[in-house]
Amino acid sequence: MNEGHHNHHSQHVSGESTPMTALARIFDLDAAVTGAYLDDAIDLIRAARSHEPAVVVDLGAGTGSATTRLAARFPSATIVAVDNSPTFADQVVRRAATDGWSSRLTTVAADLDDGWPVAVGTPDVVWASSSMHHAADPARLLREMYARLADDGTLAVLEIEGPPRFLPADQGIGTPGFEDRIVDLLTRSGWNTHPDWTVPLTEAGFGRVTRTSIRVEPATAPPGTAEYAVEWYAHLRDGIGRELPGTDRAILDQLLSHDHPQSLHARPDLRLRAGRLLWLAQPNAEGAHHV
Ligand SMILES: C[S@@+](CC[C@H](N)C(=O)[O-])C[C@H]1O[C@@H](n2cnc3c(N)ncnc32)[C@H](O)[C@@H]1O
Repeated sequence: MNEGHHNHHSQHVSGESTPMTALARIFDLDAAVTGAYLDDAIDLIRAARSHEPAVVVDLGAGTGSATTRLAARFPSATIVAVDNSPTFADQVVRRAATDGWSSRLTTVAADLDDGWPVAVGTPDVVWASSSMHHAADPARLLREMYARLADDGTLAVLEIEGPPRFLPADQGIGTPGFEDRIVDLLTRSGWNTHPDWTVPLTEAGFGRVTRTSIRVEPATAPPGTAEYAVEWYAHLRDGIGRELPGTDRAILDQLLSHDHPQSLHARPDLRLRAGRLLWLAQPNAEGAHHV
């Protein structure tokens, strides 16, 4: 999820064009496997608030994994899913229908670079996960959010905390440390670059800004971990994989093959380590920020 805002739909691990369906699949697998962070983050939002929100906005909702969880955890709220991708919006609509909360869902097709969408109104909670860093002018977007958020509103900005990890330090094929080398390469190539939002949030007027690291490191691999690892590394091979030295490309090929005994498809020792950073911000305690 390292993307300049120009081509955000098609860039993920790779910096290369990726079909929306593949991207949607990675989002969904990520949510299925690492989704425990959603409830932790929502618990923190609930703890920061004195009363139930009437309107919850999911900004850059994607395929709606968080939207679905927000709807379940804020059962009396209207949920507004904002995205500039109609393909993703359709998926959110379908999910809400399947889960039976369509009457509480509003989807807004809007480009956040065109300014805060009027249709969103005055939300009580804004959830912006891996979407703020897409904004061409995040400072402007934050100022607009500050102006539009309810007086006792809560803004939750989330970012991925480093690439997901699956493998032991010695992956059993080739030179140990393969995953460390991948993480280094991703970091050097600017994968998932985002600011520490504390300063921009404060500069936009928000008070009580907190930053929390939410780790997802279950003792046993959640269902879907192997599929997610395969999807992650296959996507990576298509893109940044070309920059790997031949020895590491060979390791990657073996990890992705179906017949190698240490293949991701077969190995019993996958251990997920993932995380999210959560910034919570509220209008200043003095209140009356709508001047
Ligand atoms: C990396 S995805 C994150 C999806 C989801 N929130 C999550 O955490 O998995 C970023 C989302 O922001 C949306 N997005 C990016 N730039 C946008 C913009 N300028 N206006 C509206 N939506 C945008 C994309 O379509 C995509 O769904």
